[in-house]
Amino acid sequence: MDIQQWHQEAKKRLEKINQGHLLRFWDELNDTQKTDLLRQVDRLETELIPKWIETYVMGEGIIEIPHDFEPAPFYPAQTPPEQMEEYNRAHALGEQLLREGKVAGFVVAGGQGTRLGFDGPKGNFPISPIKKKTLFQIFAEILLAARERFQAEIPWYVMTSPLNNAQTIEIFEANQYYGLPKEDVLIFQQGTNPNFDFEGRIFLSDKHTIAKSPDGHGGSLKALYASGAISDMRDRGIEQISYWQVDNPLIHLMDPLFIGLHAQAGAGMSSKTLKKSGPLEKVGNFCLVDGRVTVIEYSDLPDEQSHRTNPDGSLVFELGSIAIHMISVAFVEKLNQHGFALPVHKAIKKIPYLNGEANFIEPDKPNGVKLETFVFDALPMSKKSIILETIRNQEFAPVKNATGTDSAEATYQMMIDRAADWLQRAGIALPRTKDGKPDCIIEIAPSFALYPEDVKNKIDQIPPIRPGDRIYFE
Ligand code: UD1
Repeated sequence: MDIQQWHQEAKKRLEKINQGHLLRFWDELNDTQKTDLLRQVDRLETELIPKWIETYVMGEGIIEIPHDFEPAPFYPAQTPPEQMEEYNRAHALGEQLLREGKVAGFVVAGGQGTRLGFDGPKGNFPISPIKKKTLFQIFAEILLAARERFQAEIPWYVMTSPLNNAQTIEIFEANQYYGLPKEDVLIFQQGTNPNFDFEGRIFLSDKHTIAKSPDGHGGSLKALYASGAISDMRDRGIEQISYWQVDNPLIHLMDPLFIGLHAQAGAGMSSKTLKKSGPLEKVGNFCLVDGRVTVIEYSDLPDEQSHRTNPDGSLVFELGSIAIHMISVAFVEKLNQHGFALPVHKAIKKIPYLNGEANFIEPDKPNGVKLETFVFDALPMSKKSIILETIRNQEFAPVKNATGTDSAEATYQMMIDRAADWLQRAGIALPRTKDGKPDCIIEIAPSFALYPEDVKNKIDQIPPIRPGDRIYFE
């Protein structure tokens, strides 16, 4: 098709959905820019856009709180004596799957990390207490240690977005893939959605570029398939995917018990949870709706439900979602082969744009809408789904904000506290301040201990620890 004809068709398609303005600078573009813009128009899901505008841009979205829901059942972190055998069996199965090379790692790292105020991919944020290892390096070292432990290739899939893909690749290249074989690290991009103004008009970010943003971590379930990652996993014999977010350096990302409980149940998608710090902690709530595990966002759970307590005073809805999942390859394949759509969530944001007079505007207050999907919304699509409780100070210290809750400072301290806990459990005496905090700075490399139990085997390598010491264990 020649470019004139292509232009005419694109124009017709856009005008039909009131987005003709996207071609308003057509006459000022060179041929490369014209082709580029037409390709972007071709990729717009024009059949969905009017519905999105009506429902999410102009409307408030579809928030369907089910009539009937109850707390979801879960496997407690402390093994109940009557379930000891089931836990042991699962643990052994998890280890077996790891040894057989059937488990892959998958981090979602396409977000912008604007709240942290850090320039560049969040995975490159230095966080470890002594060596200042970045998040990516910490994950890579956990994978290296797990490869060594289980004598298996554990490929690592990294999802980026157009915002940070090139930079992420550069970072991995510059760090020689942190010692992992390059062919076992697969970086791919997620999809994007167009950005809208409050009247439902899609923004341009320059004369030939439609303003878009990543389609949320829910986009990972499509991107895994569309990028060829799933087919690569099939070629490698991978059956299970360990999913985590780029912001959590305490992640126990190859957890035999979690892998085993999930696989043993024949689940499509499973989750880790922790007990919320209070009724209104800003995490999703694990519920059971029509027999399916479902996350109800904190903002959608009615207050009286959030505050409901059991006779012993504990919260009825006590399980928070912390974005740690096991996902089976078969589940992702099935979703994609049968077609699926996750619910869309609306976020009101400041969106830079090119106005009708070709001036680039950087707004100082929210001026539009971004649309995202969330990965946990796929949970009810899985017939079977288990939830395993974990303990906050062992596995969850996300770096999200510049200061306060979930800040780098808080995460740094939690890394020291966890290392101290592991040493203490192995019988090592630690200096403590009056308020019980470790009076030393310690960092345990995954090569030294992948799991807390590993510390016991290295006890002869641990020097006496004195107040104020800085010790790195590797
Ligand atoms: C998220 C969860 C929250 C959970 C918390 C745990 C949502 C809506 N909320 O909150 O329930 O308790 O994490 O830390 O998800 N990402 C992409 N592509 C995107 C958007 C995000 O890859 O398009 C990745 C980010 O890089 C990051 C992760 O998803 O690794 C989380 O994104 P973020 O926006 O930081 O989620 P939170 O609001 O912190």
